[in-house]
Amino acid sequence: MKVLTVVGARPQFVKAAAVSRELRRSHEEVLVHTGQHYDEEMSDVFFDELGIPEPDDNLGVGSDSHGAQTAEMIVGLEERIEAEDPDAVLVYGDTNSTLAAAVAASKMDTDLAHVEAGLRSYNREMPEEVNRVLTDHAADLLFAPSRRAVENLREESVPGAVHDTGDVMYDAVLWARDRAEEHSTVLEDLGVEAGEYVLATVHRAGNTDDPAKLAAILDALAEDPREVVLPAHPRTVNRMREYELYEDARERLTLTDPAGYLDFVRLQDCADAVATDSGGVQKEAFFLDTPCVTMREETEWRETVEAGWNALVGADEERIRRALANADPPTEKPRPYGDGDAAARITALLDDA
Ligand code: UD1
Ligand code: UDP
Repeated sequence: MKVLTVVGARPQFVKAAAVSRELRRSHEEVLVHTGQHYDEEMSDVFFDELGIPEPDDNLGVGSDSHGAQTAEMIVGLEERIEAEDPDAVLVYGDTNSTLAAAVAASKMDTDLAHVEAGLRSYNREMPEEVNRVLTDHAADLLFAPSRRAVENLREESVPGAVHDTGDVMYDAVLWARDRAEEHSTVLEDLGVEAGEYVLATVHRAGNTDDPAKLAAILDALAEDPREVVLPAHPRTVNRMREYELYEDARERLTLTDPAGYLDFVRLQDCADAVATDSGGVQKEAFFLDTPCVTMREETEWRETVEAGWNALVGADEERIRRALANADPPTEKPRPYGDGDAAARITALLDDA
């Protein structure tokens, strides 16, 4: 069976690496990178560290408005799918690269398979919510990471076949945790002690593109008594500079470039708490037993909140500060995202399709 995988943004490299390792044992895989993320530390570092083969093709689309970026990807992907004639096109998550591949593949004679199907924030202001709903409704095979994701899809009566596979990011963390402990020197490099710092990330458009929200988040983080490490996404650095928040943040926080995956897993594993608006980081913190404070009003990963390991606090300075000070998760932790064998399940289901 020939599978054409489409990736483009940082979290997709992590997810695709986990599946690719398993998939390539028994299938031919063609890997197409749309070029949505292109900086060394947003893209190349993942291919180097995660043992993913180099992409067979990079469309080099880069940054643009949603419409222009997605349109250029659709054109490029349609050509590649036509040329490769795969049995299935495999897409991940909810970025513009996901949507572009879904649009291109669903109009051609190939199955569309969606990993991380069925997630919903029910906030249509998020571009990701639109991307994931449209992709799920176009997909032939839907690989859901949890029971709730399956139920969400049933409620929407999606036409494709829905499977509960567990979450591929759990596979990724299980692969990386010990490797990170063995190889990463990030704690020494940054001069932080395990258990004594907060790890933060911010990149969600709803937070970065609103000066008041971004300022509130940075203030709340800076006022935490612990050291706060913030590996900053390029979007966030651009906005901090634009709103003249950058110099202040650099003085008050440990501001770094985006970290490679092993360093980032190590930082999450050893943090006293994580503060984030990322989707993937909420889950990784949960898998790594680190309490999380999510700087959004809703989450697709509600199980982590229900389990008491994640607090939703929006971009509200006082709520962020209080949640960071009071994070106290229970000792018991459920396992709502499978057993860490999602890649094997997905590969087997592709076989049967
Ligand atoms: C995208 C996804 C988001 C995902 C995130 C993962 C969409 C709509 N959004 O958001 O769901 O959580 O990736 O990190 O697909 N930039 C660089 N260098 C890069 C990449 C981006 O400088 O390598 C800057 C550019 O100024 C660009 C901005 O970051 O305009 C935003 O990049 P873009 O890919 O459009 O969205 P993300 O915020 O990264
Ligand atoms: N990540 C990383 N370095 C960083 C920040 C994040 O390697 O500096 C990884 C993180 O471990 C997770 C993924 O990137 O696997 C999450 O991506 P991101 O937060 O950009 O996107 P989201 O999950 O919100 O779509």
